[in-house]
Amino acid sequence: MSTRREFIKNAAIAATAVAVAPLVETACAQTTKKMKVLMINGSPHQNGNTATALQEAANQLKENGIDSEIVWIGMSPVHGCIACGRCRADGKCIFDDDICNQVAVKMQECDALIVGSPVYYGQPNGAVLAIVQRLCYSAGGALSGKPAAAFAVCRRGGATASFQTMNMPFMMMNMPVVTSQYWNIGYGQSQGQVAEDAEGMQTMRTLANNMAALLKATGGKPMPGPSDRPVFTNFIK
Ligand SMILES: Cc1cc2nc3c(=O)[nH]c(=O)nc-3n(C[C@H](O)[C@H](O)[C@H](O)COP(=O)(O)O)c2cc1C
Repeated sequence: MSTRREFIKNAAIAATAVAVAPLVETACAQTTKKMKVLMINGSPHQNGNTATALQEAANQLKENGIDSEIVWIGMSPVHGCIACGRCRADGKCIFDDDICNQVAVKMQECDALIVGSPVYYGQPNGAVLAIVQRLCYSAGGALSGKPAAAFAVCRRGGATASFQTMNMPFMMMNMPVVTSQYWNIGYGQSQGQVAEDAEGMQTMRTLANNMAALLKATGGKPMPGPSDRPVFTNFIK
């Protein structure tokens, strides 16, 4: 097990991995291939409201000539990060029995990320948070500098809090958060009901338009990140 100080330091290193040269080379190579957005459906419902909203964005990305893939988080148990630090040496999460490492491999080939979740007790689904946290720590290089966005759907309340929570890791990973005409939230309870939320659906289409425009403007090249060695100023020595 790593010490708390090592854990914090390693997390910061992962977050700033964008400075690593091979990533920049990968980004340059991406300008010649069709760009692709990876979407994570963080609901246990494969075809529920989260899926409906993500599909709306996927359709609009297609209109803009951008590919996408929706990965469903599934219904099997998902591990939380145990801060073992093994991913530093192994280059992948120690847990290979859930979808985290598979998502990491897919993300290496993708140019942007959208994470969607239903609201559970005013927060995103715990399983999708666990996946995103482990992705950041174990596969930071696949995420760093790439455009990202979150989406939250709820019956009545907690969507903005969930949306904010999901955006936090993006902003720590040098990932430019793509905006829309409103926060990316939708309302609905039973399967597919969010499709009746006309503003929520339009928000997803606008998000897709904006993400496509950003990807085209940058050629899919990730943000540069720090230009010199990352500095860590821990508050407790
Ligand atoms: C365990 C659980 C907790 C929930 N908590 C909330 C909540 O805090 N606020 C809310 O408005 N809806 C809540 N909901 C409703 C879901 O967010 C809502 O039905 C959502 O559309 C489901 O999305 P999905 O079809 O993608 O799974 C909860 C649902 C479940 C199963």
